[in-house]
Amino acid sequence: SLLHDELAGDEIIVVSNREPYIHHRTAEGVEVRRPASGLVTAVEPVMRACSGTWIAHGAGSADRETVDLNDRVAVPPKRPSYTLRRVWLSKEEEQGYYYGFANEGLWPLCHIAHVRPVFRTADWEYYVTVNQRFADAVIAEAHTDDPIVLVQDYHFALVPRMVREKLPRATIIMFWHIPWPNPESFGICPWREEILEGLLGSTLLGFHTPFHCKNFIETVDRYLETRIEHEASTITYGGDVTQVEPYPISIAWPEGDLPSIAECYRSVRHELGVGEKHLLALGVDRLDYTKGILERFQAVERMLEMHPALIGRFSLVQIAAPSRSSLDEYQNFESRVRMLAQRINKRFGSENYEPILLKIQHYESDQVVRYYRAAEVCVVTSLHDGMNLVAKEYIAAREDERGVLVLSQFTGAARELHEALIINPYHIEQGADALYRALTMPELEQRDRMRAMRSLVRDFNVYRWAGRMLLDAARLRRREQIRARIH
Ligand code: G6P
Repeated sequence: SLLHDELAGDEIIVVSNREPYIHHRTAEGVEVRRPASGLVTAVEPVMRACSGTWIAHGAGSADRETVDLNDRVAVPPKRPSYTLRRVWLSKEEEQGYYYGFANEGLWPLCHIAHVRPVFRTADWEYYVTVNQRFADAVIAEAHTDDPIVLVQDYHFALVPRMVREKLPRATIIMFWHIPWPNPESFGICPWREEILEGLLGSTLLGFHTPFHCKNFIETVDRYLETRIEHEASTITYGGDVTQVEPYPISIAWPEGDLPSIAECYRSVRHELGVGEKHLLALGVDRLDYTKGILERFQAVERMLEMHPALIGRFSLVQIAAPSRSSLDEYQNFESRVRMLAQRINKRFGSENYEPILLKIQHYESDQVVRYYRAAEVCVVTSLHDGMNLVAKEYIAAREDERGVLVLSQFTGAARELHEALIINPYHIEQGADALYRALTMPELEQRDRMRAMRSLVRDFNVYRWAGRMLLDAARLRRREQIRARIH
């Protein structure tokens, strides 16, 4: 309701690369899927609550016939409440802008995972072109000259300035869903000034943590001539003022009917073909080298070495949704993940036992929730992660106040979820110890920790995330309107 009050009469336009719903045509008709994306998990419920238009790349929806001639479709499918407007990219645009500049350049640039970024002039040129196409789509969709535009993530660093040029009165909120590195690391990008100038077209620029904000401000200080007010956290560049603030992202607290915990516990074990009392740890990630999946497997191996009594009684279920799989780096990673799982399974497994149950496939979110409710432990071992919403989803799924979260210190979530078992994923023995401690934790301690984390995630849910940003933006908007009237 706070959202509704704040937005009364205002027009909302969201821009992201990933679309919230993917329409696939199959033999049986059109099938709708939800992609594995932290961004979509967070932003979609907000859009459902406040309606408006969401502009995204029609990437997975290969079949353009599923939408109307204007490329608009009302979503969610069962209860439409906002408009999804697709921008279709050519193969070359997708390759250069998405696979190339965004995912071979900016993604490894911003995550410390020891994968070197690759920068090519041709990719950059596509990135500029595609950013302009999305900015044009915003301008075409806008019914007023001062919409509230929410630009999402590293795919669109140039969009804020491009929109600002055509709609100077727009309120532009940019949220960067991944970490922002230190100035030296960011300086590797050959187009660092252009990226920074693009972002400084926004009214409000959000990151998950104060540390990412600090890195961003230091990066601007290093490479651009601006005025920085540290106290107020504003950057003035060529007459435009950008407010830089941390907004830790979250999830919508689940409501509605879910299969009971006991039912999930049983049916998941049945599905996996393991015994009724089999202990389960769970990893849920996109198959991405930033997620620390190899380190997680190694921790399992180390734990089984140290505690052989668990052999045959425990497995890690790793759900890994394929992602960006046409890139070499992702293909190599996938084969390393498969090989390590095989090696460990050979070492400790037997005819009907695998310590690592590797599922490289897409699971819809209701399936994932069943797994959350069935697993004694959830393991998040990212080497670097903006927030990591799997950690919050696991907590939200445990209304029985049981279960333990093992969480990497290099996630944004570790800044909030202090009652998790916090680990350094590079330290394999520490990971193994934490996993063992989680599996043997007394019920009362589980409950105390779970309770504390559940109340935090329930209070600081995603509506709060969006609400705080929109409220701050509304304040800046009013200030601007008053200034415009005076002059
Ligand atoms: C991260 C990014 C999102 C992205 C998601 C999935 O969470 O911050 O912008 O949507 O990964 O990646 P993909 O490339 O499949 O959209």
